Amino acid sequence: MQNNLRPESMARITNFELANAFIDEQIAEIRAQVGDKKVLLALSGGVDSSVVAALLVKAIGKQLVCVHVNHGLMRKDESENVIKVFKDELDANLIYVDATDRFLDLLNGVSDPESKRKIIGAEFINVFADEARKLEGISYLAQGTIYPDILESIKQAEGKKAVKSHHNVGGLPEDLNFELVEPIKLLFKDEVRVVGEALGLPHAMVYRQPFPGPGLGVRCLGAITRDRLNALREADAILREEFDINGLAEKVWQYFVVIPDIKSVGVKDDSRYEGWPAIIRAVNTVDAMTATIEEIPYAVLHKITSRITNEVEGINRVLYDLTPKPSGTIEWE
Ligand code: XMP
Repeated sequence: MQNNLRPESMARITNFELANAFIDEQIAEIRAQVGDKKVLLALSGGVDSSVVAALLVKAIGKQLVCVHVNHGLMRKDESENVIKVFKDELDANLIYVDATDRFLDLLNGVSDPESKRKIIGAEFINVFADEARKLEGISYLAQGTIYPDILESIKQAEGKKAVKSHHNVGGLPEDLNFELVEPIKLLFKDEVRVVGEALGLPHAMVYRQPFPGPGLGVRCLGAITRDRLNALREADAILREEFDINGLAEKVWQYFVVIPDIKSVGVKDDSRYEGWPAIIRAVNTVDAMTATIEEIPYAVLHKITSRITNEVEGINRVLYDLTPKPSGTIEWE
Protein backbone atom coordinates (compact mmCIF):
# COMPACT_ATOMS: atom_id res chain seq x y z
CA MET A 1 0.00 0.00 0.00
CA GLN A 2 2.96 2.31 0.69
CA ASN A 3 3.63 3.39 -2.93
CA ASN A 4 -0.13 3.92 -3.36
CA LEU A 5 -0.09 6.82 -0.95
CA ARG A 6 0.44 10.33 -2.15
CA PRO A 7 3.60 11.85 -0.69
CA GLU A 8 2.94 15.01 1.31
CA SER A 9 5.59 16.80 -0.74
CA MET A 10 3.65 16.28 -3.99
CA ALA A 11 2.40 19.68 -5.23
CA ARG A 12 -1.22 19.98 -6.32
CA ILE A 13 -1.35 20.21 -10.13
CA THR A 14 -3.22 23.45 -10.76
CA ASN A 15 -1.71 24.80 -13.99
CA PHE A 16 -0.24 23.73 -17.32
CA GLU A 17 3.35 24.15 -16.14
CA LEU A 18 2.86 21.65 -13.33
CA ALA A 19 0.77 19.42 -15.62
CA ASN A 20 3.48 19.36 -18.28
CA ALA A 21 6.11 18.48 -15.68
CA PHE A 22 3.86 15.61 -14.51
CA ILE A 23 3.32 14.46 -18.11
CA ASP A 24 7.08 14.42 -18.86
CA GLU A 25 7.77 12.51 -15.67
CA GLN A 26 5.05 9.94 -16.40
CA ILE A 27 6.16 9.47 -20.00
CA ALA A 28 9.64 8.59 -18.75
CA GLU A 29 8.21 6.25 -16.10
CA ILE A 30 5.83 4.52 -18.52
CA ARG A 31 8.61 3.96 -21.08
CA ALA A 32 10.89 2.60 -18.37
CA GLN A 33 8.15 0.28 -17.09
CA VAL A 34 6.85 -1.19 -20.35
CA GLY A 35 9.87 -1.02 -22.68
CA ASP A 36 8.79 -2.30 -26.11
CA LYS A 37 5.86 -4.37 -24.75
CA LYS A 38 2.19 -3.80 -25.56
CA VAL A 39 -0.32 -2.24 -23.18
CA LEU A 40 -4.09 -2.79 -23.20
CA LEU A 41 -6.63 -0.21 -22.01
CA ALA A 42 -10.41 -0.26 -21.63
CA LEU A 43 -11.30 3.18 -22.98
CA SER A 44 -14.79 4.19 -21.87
CA GLY A 45 -14.54 7.82 -22.94
CA GLY A 46 -14.75 8.96 -19.31
CA VAL A 47 -12.26 11.53 -18.09
CA ASP A 48 -9.91 9.10 -16.34
CA SER A 49 -9.52 6.47 -19.06
CA SER A 50 -9.29 9.21 -21.71
CA VAL A 51 -6.45 10.97 -19.91
CA VAL A 52 -4.61 7.68 -19.43
CA ALA A 53 -5.07 6.88 -23.12
CA ALA A 54 -3.77 10.28 -24.24
CA LEU A 55 -0.80 9.98 -21.89
CA LEU A 56 0.05 6.50 -23.15
CA VAL A 57 -0.34 7.47 -26.81
CA LYS A 58 2.21 10.19 -26.14
CA ALA A 59 4.53 7.83 -24.30
CA ILE A 60 4.35 4.66 -26.40
CA GLY A 61 2.19 5.40 -29.48
CA LYS A 62 0.93 2.24 -31.18
CA GLN A 63 2.18 -0.03 -28.41
CA LEU A 64 -1.03 1.00 -26.68
CA VAL A 65 -4.13 -0.95 -27.71
CA CYS A 66 -7.37 0.74 -26.63
CA VAL A 67 -10.60 -1.23 -26.56
CA HIS A 68 -13.84 0.74 -26.49
CA VAL A 69 -16.81 -1.43 -25.56
CA ASN A 70 -20.18 0.03 -26.49
CA HIS A 71 -22.58 -1.76 -24.16
CA GLY A 72 -25.56 -0.14 -25.85
CA LEU A 73 -26.12 1.97 -22.74
CA MET A 74 -23.98 4.93 -23.80
CA ARG A 75 -25.39 8.42 -24.22
CA LYS A 76 -26.12 9.76 -27.69
CA ASP A 77 -22.99 10.15 -29.89
CA GLU A 78 -20.67 9.11 -27.07
CA SER A 79 -18.99 6.15 -28.76
CA GLU A 80 -18.72 8.08 -32.03
CA ASN A 81 -16.94 10.83 -30.14
CA VAL A 82 -14.43 8.43 -28.59
CA ILE A 83 -13.63 7.13 -32.08
CA LYS A 84 -13.33 10.66 -33.46
CA VAL A 85 -10.96 11.89 -30.76
CA PHE A 86 -8.77 8.83 -30.33
CA LYS A 87 -8.76 7.14 -33.72
CA ASP A 88 -9.17 10.11 -36.08
CA GLU A 89 -7.39 12.87 -34.17
CA LEU A 90 -4.81 11.13 -31.95
CA ASP A 91 -4.25 8.22 -34.36
CA ALA A 92 -4.47 5.75 -31.48
CA ASN A 93 -4.66 2.01 -31.94
CA LEU A 94 -8.37 1.64 -31.10
CA ILE A 95 -10.61 -1.40 -31.28
CA TYR A 96 -14.32 -0.57 -31.26
CA VAL A 97 -16.66 -3.31 -30.08
CA ASP A 98 -20.39 -2.88 -30.51
CA ALA A 99 -21.71 -5.31 -27.91
CA THR A 100 -25.20 -3.78 -27.67
CA ASP A 101 -27.02 -7.04 -28.45
CA ARG A 102 -24.97 -9.08 -25.97
CA PHE A 103 -25.83 -6.69 -23.14
CA LEU A 104 -29.46 -6.03 -23.99
CA ASP A 105 -30.19 -9.73 -24.50
CA LEU A 106 -28.77 -10.55 -21.07
CA LEU A 107 -30.68 -7.70 -19.45
CA ASN A 108 -33.96 -8.69 -21.05
CA GLY A 109 -36.64 -8.93 -18.32
CA VAL A 110 -34.22 -8.09 -15.46
CA SER A 111 -35.70 -5.38 -13.25
CA ASP A 112 -33.71 -5.46 -9.99
CA PRO A 113 -31.15 -2.60 -10.01
CA GLU A 114 -28.31 -4.52 -8.35
CA SER A 115 -28.86 -7.51 -10.66
CA LYS A 116 -28.70 -5.15 -13.63
CA ARG A 117 -25.43 -3.67 -12.32
CA LYS A 118 -23.96 -7.13 -11.77
CA ILE A 119 -24.92 -8.32 -15.25
CA ILE A 120 -23.51 -5.19 -16.89
CA GLY A 121 -20.28 -5.32 -14.84
CA ALA A 122 -19.72 -9.04 -15.47
CA GLU A 123 -20.53 -8.84 -19.19
CA PHE A 124 -18.22 -5.88 -19.57
CA ILE A 125 -15.39 -8.03 -18.28
CA ASN A 126 -16.44 -10.92 -20.56
CA VAL A 127 -16.46 -8.73 -23.68
CA PHE A 128 -13.19 -7.05 -22.76
CA ALA A 129 -11.55 -10.40 -21.93
CA ASP A 130 -12.74 -11.85 -25.27
CA GLU A 131 -11.03 -8.98 -27.07
CA ALA A 132 -7.89 -9.29 -24.94
CA ARG A 133 -7.62 -13.02 -25.78
CA LYS A 134 -7.76 -12.24 -29.50
CA LEU A 135 -4.75 -9.95 -29.20
CA GLU A 136 -1.23 -11.21 -29.08
CA GLY A 137 1.73 -10.08 -27.07
CA ILE A 138 -0.04 -7.92 -24.51
CA SER A 139 1.91 -7.67 -21.27
CA TYR A 140 0.35 -4.75 -19.44
CA LEU A 141 -3.09 -3.44 -18.55
CA ALA A 142 -3.46 0.31 -18.12
CA GLN A 143 -6.13 1.60 -15.77
CA GLY A 144 -7.53 5.02 -15.00
CA THR A 145 -7.38 4.51 -11.25
CA ILE A 146 -7.28 7.88 -9.48
CA TYR A 147 -6.43 8.80 -5.89
CA PRO A 148 -10.02 8.85 -4.56
CA ASP A 149 -10.36 5.21 -5.84
CA ILE A 150 -7.32 4.28 -3.76
CA LEU A 151 -8.74 6.07 -0.71
CA GLU A 152 -12.10 4.33 -1.29
CA SER A 153 -10.46 0.88 -1.39
CA ILE A 154 -8.64 1.67 1.83
CA LYS A 155 -12.00 2.60 3.42
CA GLN A 156 -13.59 -0.60 2.11
CA ALA A 157 -10.70 -2.67 3.41
CA GLU A 158 -11.51 -1.13 6.79
CA GLY A 159 -15.00 -2.60 6.51
CA LYS A 160 -17.19 0.41 5.55
CA LYS A 161 -20.21 -0.56 3.46
CA ALA A 162 -21.42 1.14 0.26
CA VAL A 163 -25.11 1.86 -0.55
CA LYS A 164 -24.72 0.71 -4.17
CA SER A 165 -22.14 -1.47 -5.88
CA HIS A 166 -20.23 1.08 -7.96
CA HIS A 167 -17.74 -1.32 -9.48
CA ASN A 168 -16.75 -0.77 -13.10
CA VAL A 169 -13.98 -2.95 -14.55
CA GLY A 170 -13.34 -5.43 -11.76
CA GLY A 171 -10.74 -8.17 -11.89
CA LEU A 172 -10.04 -9.89 -15.19
CA PRO A 173 -10.06 -13.71 -15.43
CA GLU A 174 -6.90 -15.41 -14.18
CA ASP A 175 -5.59 -16.42 -17.62
CA LEU A 176 -5.25 -12.72 -18.41
CA ASN A 177 -2.50 -12.01 -16.00
CA PHE A 178 -1.34 -8.52 -16.92
CA GLU A 179 0.88 -6.22 -14.95
CA LEU A 180 -0.80 -2.87 -14.18
CA VAL A 181 0.10 0.57 -15.48
CA GLU A 182 -1.67 3.25 -13.45
CA PRO A 183 -0.11 6.60 -14.31
CA ILE A 184 -2.72 8.86 -12.67
CA LYS A 185 -3.29 6.90 -9.48
CA LEU A 186 -1.97 9.67 -7.24
CA LEU A 187 -4.07 12.42 -8.82
CA PHE A 188 -7.28 14.01 -7.63
CA LYS A 189 -10.02 14.60 -10.20
CA ASP A 190 -9.32 18.32 -10.66
CA GLU A 191 -5.68 17.47 -11.39
CA VAL A 192 -6.67 14.81 -13.91
CA ARG A 193 -8.66 17.47 -15.78
CA VAL A 194 -5.72 19.92 -15.87
CA VAL A 195 -3.47 17.14 -17.17
CA GLY A 196 -6.12 16.20 -19.75
CA GLU A 197 -6.28 19.73 -21.10
CA ALA A 198 -2.49 19.98 -21.12
CA LEU A 199 -2.49 16.80 -23.24
CA GLY A 200 -4.79 18.54 -25.73
CA LEU A 201 -7.98 16.57 -25.08
CA PRO A 202 -11.22 18.45 -25.92
CA HIS A 203 -12.62 20.58 -23.08
CA ALA A 204 -16.01 18.80 -23.29
CA MET A 205 -14.33 15.43 -22.75
CA VAL A 206 -12.16 16.60 -19.87
CA TYR A 207 -15.01 18.39 -18.09
CA ARG A 208 -17.59 15.72 -18.91
CA GLN A 209 -20.09 15.19 -16.11
CA PRO A 210 -19.73 11.89 -14.23
CA PHE A 211 -21.49 9.01 -15.97
CA PRO A 212 -22.03 5.70 -14.16
CA GLY A 213 -20.37 2.53 -15.48
CA PRO A 214 -23.79 0.85 -16.09
CA GLY A 215 -24.69 3.95 -18.09
CA LEU A 216 -28.26 4.52 -19.19
CA GLY A 217 -28.99 1.03 -17.85
CA VAL A 218 -29.69 2.44 -14.37
CA ARG A 219 -31.74 5.33 -15.79
CA CYS A 220 -34.08 3.19 -17.89
CA LEU A 221 -35.80 1.99 -14.73
CA GLY A 222 -36.79 -1.62 -14.17
CA ALA A 223 -36.56 -4.06 -17.07
CA ILE A 224 -34.88 -2.28 -20.00
CA THR A 225 -36.65 -2.24 -23.35
CA ARG A 226 -35.07 -0.93 -26.56
CA ASP A 227 -37.87 1.55 -27.28
CA ARG A 228 -37.72 3.11 -23.80
CA LEU A 229 -33.91 3.12 -23.91
CA ASN A 230 -33.98 4.97 -27.24
CA ALA A 231 -36.46 7.50 -25.86
CA LEU A 232 -34.19 8.00 -22.86
CA ARG A 233 -31.12 8.54 -25.06
CA GLU A 234 -32.91 11.14 -27.19
CA ALA A 235 -34.45 12.97 -24.21
CA ASP A 236 -31.08 13.02 -22.42
CA ALA A 237 -29.40 14.49 -25.51
CA ILE A 238 -31.99 17.30 -25.60
CA LEU A 239 -31.46 18.02 -21.90
CA ARG A 240 -27.68 18.19 -22.39
CA GLU A 241 -28.00 20.40 -25.44
CA GLU A 242 -30.29 22.85 -23.63
CA PHE A 243 -28.03 22.90 -20.55
CA ASP A 244 -25.10 23.73 -22.86
CA ILE A 245 -26.97 26.49 -24.69
CA ASN A 246 -28.19 28.03 -21.43
CA GLY A 247 -24.84 28.00 -19.62
CA LEU A 248 -25.96 25.40 -17.07
CA ALA A 249 -23.58 22.63 -18.10
CA GLU A 250 -20.65 24.19 -16.26
CA LYS A 251 -22.77 25.11 -13.22
CA VAL A 252 -24.45 21.79 -12.52
CA TRP A 253 -22.44 18.78 -11.40
CA GLN A 254 -24.66 16.08 -12.87
CA TYR A 255 -27.81 16.34 -14.97
CA PHE A 256 -29.68 13.61 -16.75
CA VAL A 257 -33.00 12.04 -17.65
CA VAL A 258 -34.60 9.00 -16.05
CA ILE A 259 -37.51 7.09 -17.57
CA PRO A 260 -39.65 4.87 -15.34
CA ASP A 261 -41.56 1.90 -16.63
CA ILE A 262 -44.98 3.54 -16.34
CA LYS A 263 -47.26 5.19 -18.83
CA SER A 264 -49.82 7.90 -18.36
CA VAL A 265 -52.62 9.10 -20.58
CA GLY A 266 -51.91 12.10 -22.75
CA VAL A 267 -53.10 13.75 -25.96
CA LYS A 268 -51.35 14.10 -29.30
CA ASP A 269 -52.91 15.36 -32.52
CA ASP A 270 -56.32 15.31 -30.79
CA SER A 271 -56.00 11.62 -29.94
CA ARG A 272 -55.29 9.69 -26.77
CA TYR A 273 -51.53 9.13 -26.47
CA GLU A 274 -50.16 6.92 -23.73
CA GLY A 275 -46.54 7.69 -23.04
CA TRP A 276 -43.74 7.54 -20.49
CA PRO A 277 -42.75 10.50 -18.32
CA ALA A 278 -39.19 11.81 -18.66
CA ILE A 279 -37.84 12.77 -15.24
CA ILE A 280 -35.11 15.41 -15.12
CA ARG A 281 -32.49 15.29 -12.39
CA ALA A 282 -29.96 18.11 -11.93
CA VAL A 283 -27.81 18.00 -8.81
CA ASN A 284 -24.83 19.69 -7.26
CA THR A 285 -22.48 17.97 -4.89
CA VAL A 286 -18.91 18.00 -3.67
CA ASP A 287 -18.32 14.31 -3.08
CA ALA A 288 -21.56 12.59 -4.25
CA MET A 289 -22.28 11.54 -0.66
CA THR A 290 -24.90 14.29 -0.36
CA ALA A 291 -26.40 16.42 -3.13
CA THR A 292 -28.55 19.51 -3.52
CA ILE A 293 -30.97 20.44 -6.27
CA GLU A 294 -30.01 23.08 -8.79
CA GLU A 295 -32.60 25.80 -9.42
CA ILE A 296 -33.24 25.73 -13.14
CA PRO A 297 -34.96 28.78 -14.64
CA TYR A 298 -38.57 28.03 -15.52
CA ALA A 299 -38.10 29.19 -19.09
CA VAL A 300 -35.39 26.56 -19.60
CA LEU A 301 -37.59 23.86 -18.06
CA HIS A 302 -40.47 24.86 -20.35
CA LYS A 303 -38.24 24.72 -23.42
CA ILE A 304 -36.86 21.31 -22.46
CA THR A 305 -40.39 20.02 -21.78
CA SER A 306 -41.64 21.27 -25.09
CA ARG A 307 -38.70 19.83 -27.03
CA ILE A 308 -38.79 16.43 -25.34
CA THR A 309 -42.55 15.96 -25.68
CA ASN A 310 -42.50 17.11 -29.31
CA GLU A 311 -39.29 15.46 -30.50
CA VAL A 312 -39.10 12.18 -28.60
CA GLU A 313 -41.29 9.28 -29.59
CA GLY A 314 -43.07 7.71 -26.61
CA ILE A 315 -42.80 10.56 -24.07
CA ASN A 316 -45.82 12.67 -23.14
CA ARG A 317 -44.81 14.32 -19.84
CA VAL A 318 -41.70 15.87 -18.28
CA LEU A 319 -41.15 16.03 -14.51
CA TYR A 320 -38.43 17.75 -12.47
CA ASP A 321 -37.12 15.81 -9.49
CA LEU A 322 -36.74 18.12 -6.47
CA THR A 323 -35.33 15.51 -4.10
CA PRO A 324 -31.91 16.13 -2.55
CA LYS A 325 -29.59 13.32 -1.39
CA PRO A 326 -30.63 12.22 1.15
CA SER A 327 -33.46 11.19 0.97
CA GLY A 328 -32.94 10.21 -2.67
CA THR A 329 -29.72 8.90 -4.11
CA ILE A 330 -28.45 10.75 -7.20
CA GLU A 331 -29.40 7.93 -9.56
CA TRP A 332 -32.88 6.42 -9.27
CA GLU A 333 -31.50 2.88 -9.19
P1 XMP B 1 -25.80 7.60 -6.04
O1 XMP B 1 -26.92 7.21 -6.94
O2 XMP B 1 -25.24 6.47 -5.23
O3 XMP B 1 -24.64 8.09 -6.98
O4 XMP B 1 -26.17 8.79 -5.16
C1 XMP B 1 -23.47 8.74 -6.57
C2 XMP B 1 -22.61 8.93 -7.81
O5 XMP B 1 -22.17 7.67 -8.30
C3 XMP B 1 -22.64 7.44 -9.62
N1 XMP B 1 -23.05 6.03 -9.71
C4 XMP B 1 -22.32 5.07 -10.27
N2 XMP B 1 -21.11 5.12 -10.86
N3 XMP B 1 -21.23 2.79 -11.29
C5 XMP B 1 -20.59 3.98 -11.39
O6 XMP B 1 -19.50 4.03 -11.96
C6 XMP B 1 -22.45 2.66 -10.70
O7 XMP B 1 -23.01 1.58 -10.64
C7 XMP B 1 -23.02 3.87 -10.17
N4 XMP B 1 -24.18 4.14 -9.52
C8 XMP B 1 -24.17 5.48 -9.26
C9 XMP B 1 -23.78 8.41 -9.81
O8 XMP B 1 -23.96 8.73 -11.20
C10 XMP B 1 -23.33 9.59 -8.99
O9 XMP B 1 -22.40 10.38 -9.69
